[in-house]
Amino acid sequence: MEEVAAAAPAMADLNKLCENLLAQRSLILSSNRGPVEHHVTPDGRAEARRGGGGIVTALNSLAQTAQFTWIASAMGEGDRLISGGALGSYYPSPLPGHKINLRYVVTPRRVYHKYYNVLCNPLLWFLQHYMWNPPYNPNVDASIHDAWQGGYVPVNQAFARLAVEQARADRRPPVFIGHDYHLYLMPEYLRQEIPDALIQHFIHIPWPTPRYWQMIPSYITRQICSALSSADLLGFQTPQDRRSFLDTVEEFVPDAQVDRPQGLVIRDRLTTRVRVYPISINVPEVQRIANSPRALEYEERLRSVRNGTTIVRIDRAEPNKNVVRGFRAFELLLSRHPELRGKVNFLAFLVPSRTHIRQYQRYMEEIQQVVGRINQTFGTEEWQPITTFMENNYTQAIAGMKLYDVLLVNTIMEGMNLVAKEGPVVNTQDGVLILSETSGAYHQLAGGALPVAPADIEGTMEALYQAIIMSPEERKRRAGILADSVNREDITHWIARQLEDINSLL
Ligand code: G6P
Repeated sequence: MEEVAAAAPAMADLNKLCENLLAQRSLILSSNRGPVEHHVTPDGRAEARRGGGGIVTALNSLAQTAQFTWIASAMGEGDRLISGGALGSYYPSPLPGHKINLRYVVTPRRVYHKYYNVLCNPLLWFLQHYMWNPPYNPNVDASIHDAWQGGYVPVNQAFARLAVEQARADRRPPVFIGHDYHLYLMPEYLRQEIPDALIQHFIHIPWPTPRYWQMIPSYITRQICSALSSADLLGFQTPQDRRSFLDTVEEFVPDAQVDRPQGLVIRDRLTTRVRVYPISINVPEVQRIANSPRALEYEERLRSVRNGTTIVRIDRAEPNKNVVRGFRAFELLLSRHPELRGKVNFLAFLVPSRTHIRQYQRYMEEIQQVVGRINQTFGTEEWQPITTFMENNYTQAIAGMKLYDVLLVNTIMEGMNLVAKEGPVVNTQDGVLILSETSGAYHQLAGGALPVAPADIEGTMEALYQAIIMSPEERKRRAGILADSVNREDITHWIARQLEDINSLL
């Protein structure tokens, strides 16, 4: 049975695959968060910056290789400003090296709020990461039904409208590539308008079992599964996600025929191929940033904060990342092993995220409380156990990755986790990776990492201790396994495998 598709094309093939595709079709890519964000300057201008988040990082090399249109939401006032409030301006990306054109989907603020702050993140993101406490939440009330109808559906329709408009302007048969849980309905709307389009959608986050999907109203799950089954190709991070998706389609879409061994969903005359493409990182790009003058400056500054062994974590400030349990494990370590006090530092790089959503605000407060408690209990005049950096500063975080003796990734449930892949290719200390068994990255990195179960605070404490006392030889051995594994399957590999499958359907 084909689980993870084999045969990695070489890096040099990426150009050829792009050329072949673009010789026959136009390419239109959609994701909620775009590659360029605009911030309003005090004098009222829109200033362009690179967008954040995994998708943007992952697709940066494609944006530098191929000419296509990238459609994204106007997420903030700056994006709205450059889009002129219209249905989305069209202009070349201002970022160096980019060959792409950008278009922004501008939706009324209220509609966008329902879509992003009610439906996509508190509902779908929490569901797909198993983040509920079912006896108490979620409570699907009228506001959720309303956010589906008045937020999720219209934003997906607006994306599809703009993508179709772009395809018609390009005057060539299109390949549409969509990303993630924000845009599940797009494939169906695109198929209705352009029946012979080639449609791919990649889902970056876990796909839970149908039992869990049953928690929310079935019409939502049915519509999602049915719309995704309008694509020609669907991509998931792991074989488990693919299996759960096929199970969910079987349960919720009665007229779909599911072929498990081949990974197919067959409906009417349409066949959807369901594949596994584990996402990775752009190794040369991450290494370039790690060696940039700015990163070296940060590294210098961070060195002055450390004394002895350095534990590092880098995450969006996100309940799913399990930051609080990670700190509690560290707290336990300091109380069980008093000999480590004053000799271990925890540097936490936490990027504020989805700050309008109550659950995220509360989680940020909990993080601050636990950090305050630990620093107050154990800190001395000369030593602060935990130092936090609460900002979106990728270069500083990369500088932190160079320094760790221990990298803690104890995420609860995650599609992949790219930090676990970035660390080993920039770290200079033969640092040890502690990795949650429930992260998508675990499958690939298990040979070099120390495993933890996300809820196991005692076990995480023990893993921290084992990492700290590990012999230099064993650290070197494990670090080598991790770096080799990431170098073998970097982002070019991820993109090229998908383009290869798309090309085979042209
Ligand atoms: C994850 C999701 C992405 C999302 C990113 C940042 O990686 O899979 O789709 O863009 O988080 O989240 P945000 O809500 O800030 O776009």
